[in-house]
Amino acid sequence: MKTIIEPFRIKSVEPIKFTTKDERAKILEEAGYNPFLIKAEDVLIDLLTDSGTSAMSSYQWAGIMRGDESYAGAKSFYRFESAVKKITGDTFIIPTHQGRAAEKILFSILGGNGKYFAANTFFDTTRANIEFSGAEAFDLLNEIGKHPEQRAPFKGDMDVIALEAFIKKHGRENIPLVVLTVTNNSGGGQPVSMKNIKEVSSVCKKNNIPLFLDACRFAENAYFIKMREDGYKDKTVLEICKEMFSYADGSTMSAKKDALVNIGGWLSLNDEELALKCRNLLIVTEGFPTYGGLAGRDLEAIAQGLDEVVDEHYLQYRIRSTEYLGEKLLSNGIPIIEPPGGHAIYIDAKRFAPHIPPEQFPGQAITCEMYVEGGIRACEIGTIMFGKYDENGKTIPAMMELVRLAIPRRVYTQSHIDYVAEAVIEVYKKRNELNGYAFTYEAPILRHFTARFKKT
Ligand code: F0G
Repeated sequence: MKTIIEPFRIKSVEPIKFTTKDERAKILEEAGYNPFLIKAEDVLIDLLTDSGTSAMSSYQWAGIMRGDESYAGAKSFYRFESAVKKITGDTFIIPTHQGRAAEKILFSILGGNGKYFAANTFFDTTRANIEFSGAEAFDLLNEIGKHPEQRAPFKGDMDVIALEAFIKKHGRENIPLVVLTVTNNSGGGQPVSMKNIKEVSSVCKKNNIPLFLDACRFAENAYFIKMREDGYKDKTVLEICKEMFSYADGSTMSAKKDALVNIGGWLSLNDEELALKCRNLLIVTEGFPTYGGLAGRDLEAIAQGLDEVVDEHYLQYRIRSTEYLGEKLLSNGIPIIEPPGGHAIYIDAKRFAPHIPPEQFPGQAITCEMYVEGGIRACEIGTIMFGKYDENGKTIPAMMELVRLAIPRRVYTQSHIDYVAEAVIEVYKKRNELNGYAFTYEAPILRHFTARFKKT
């Protein structure tokens, strides 16, 4: 059969509230033109994030009932630990309430003034945790990853030559860690090849610098390796995952993505001394080492989710449904990052609305209009999220101006996706009428979450 179907039946449904265009225009204005500030019930299709928005399976819900809520040494912890070990192969598994909690612990210990960290691309919370410690974070993305319109199988790869130069420049003793984000969320959900993981790992080993995976979307990355990289076609996704992690010394994880749960994360590592320090900090900030900010039931749901996420029918449906949306947009002339990534479609706002300069946030213009048009909530990943100011207060724009349509796992059906495509196409038809935006409020850090805007 040619048709790829959703590999599940729907047992429980959540009604969507419908609104009119006029109602949405008013809601958006009241939210300061920031979709993060809109009430979720006023959204028809929520593509703000794929994080914590997965639909859990009946087995996961059954696991919730099995959750052992003992403070210390709960059965659910050991199930969680063994599920994480099965994938990562790491020795020390530290549960955290989400990804950034793992980052906070790791970078509080390894960071500080005079330290330098490199990644293919740091996600915003990862960068924020590094910078908050006083250290600096550098993105060393491969050249091809910086060109949204060019197709390549592994646009998430790190530039290995740039990494070597980076180590020479800053000195290996000042670089506590290198990170590979798989898939590369901020760079378009693009995968990292096994070849690149191996090469980065070997440069790190030569220089005695640990390599960690920011593993949020490890299963999607592994499926791309299976589909696109020579030598992996006949391997199982689980085998590929294990190999990916085998080249790294540890991982930070937001279980809200590829563990198919609504909350959770981990820090996994092999260095005993570092693990001890991390656990000690965990006790201060998260909780006892066998629950780390989670309930036993959450640990149970993660353990089950990790089993389900490496299922190849699931991954085929997952990757295909994202690609399906991408193809629909492309066939209507809408510029997106090509090829489509794993968890999201990224509209290239620079080409979509070239009349709006980066300082007036073209991505926000498209995001706002998509909400008014179809009640779709998306997320700007451009100068609002990553822009900075120079010493004269002039905006330094982000490398790319993108709008992310992140697809929650197992939540929307094909007709929902058709509806999204239709709305984006309508906005594209009116693209020349879109206006820019300016801040009326911005926080000093992670400003995109709480900022307010006016039309320019
Ligand atoms: N790393 C990556 C690559 C991420 O995408 C995220 C979260 C995190 C770390 C932090 O994890 O949210 O559990 O603390 N990304 C979400 C997103 C928020 O919408 O892409 P967290």
